[in-house]
Amino acid sequence: MSADSLTHWGGEPVATLRELWGVPTVEAYERLSSTNDRAKELAAEPGHTFAVVVANQQTAGRGRRGASWHSPPGSGLWMSVVLPSAPALHLPLLVGLAAAQAIDGLEPTERSVRVGIEWPNDLVVGSRKLGGILCEGAGDAAVAGIGINVRTPAGGFPEELTGRATSLEEQGAKAMSHNTLCGLIVSALERLLARPSPRLEPEVLADLRARDALADRPVLTEEHGPGTARGIEADGALVLERPDGSRVRVLAGSVRPA
Ligand code: BTN
Repeated sequence: MSADSLTHWGGEPVATLRELWGVPTVEAYERLSSTNDRAKELAAEPGHTFAVVVANQQTAGRGRRGASWHSPPGSGLWMSVVLPSAPALHLPLLVGLAAAQAIDGLEPTERSVRVGIEWPNDLVVGSRKLGGILCEGAGDAAVAGIGINVRTPAGGFPEELTGRATSLEEQGAKAMSHNTLCGLIVSALERLLARPSPRLEPEVLADLRARDALADRPVLTEEHGPGTARGIEADGALVLERPDGSRVRVLAGSVRPA
């Protein structure tokens, strides 16, 4: 393990977090290139399903489609979890839903935060990005990387994110330790992935649809061009209504509000 590994995280011994969360492994780091990279190494060894890797700072945090992910020290929850099966179309949606439900589970304040999901991997509040999900294959398993902006970084978000990013703090969520939020996400993930299936269960799909931040909005998709987003299907596809009224299933590529 690297010299930057921690025996305590958020004031708790890492061994206690492992027991509390009921997972085989918890690794915490002050600094790591990317928690997904370390989780992939764990996934290559037996016995690490639901292993959790967290870092206070990532020096080479990755976003979807080769983007870098701004991961300054202490301002966000940067975590990865080794999952039991290979990535499927609906996996980032399930992981995003776990994060959204975990945030709902924080003690509410006068302004409780309602987290939306922008297909396929963004966590949003209104039109601002609160976090993102990066699911990657790791042999027969998958690694789910989750980044959530807990506080607004001391000097603000970098210029390219100004006006596009937000944090739980900015949204008035109750201040909580990163390990509390991480534990809530891990238990939501265990619950949502308890019965692996290529199709989302009806109540899971209902929650996703209720959080679908693109529903009935004009969007521009990389795969099929412009149209109106018409909801998420049980296998995780996004339905796009094209300008001529025909409908297609979006399976890949970027989708952004037009
Ligand atoms: C995105 O919105 O493009 C996905 C962002 C995913 C960021 C998280 S932070 C923890 C994990 N480690 C990484 O390098 N990336 C993910």
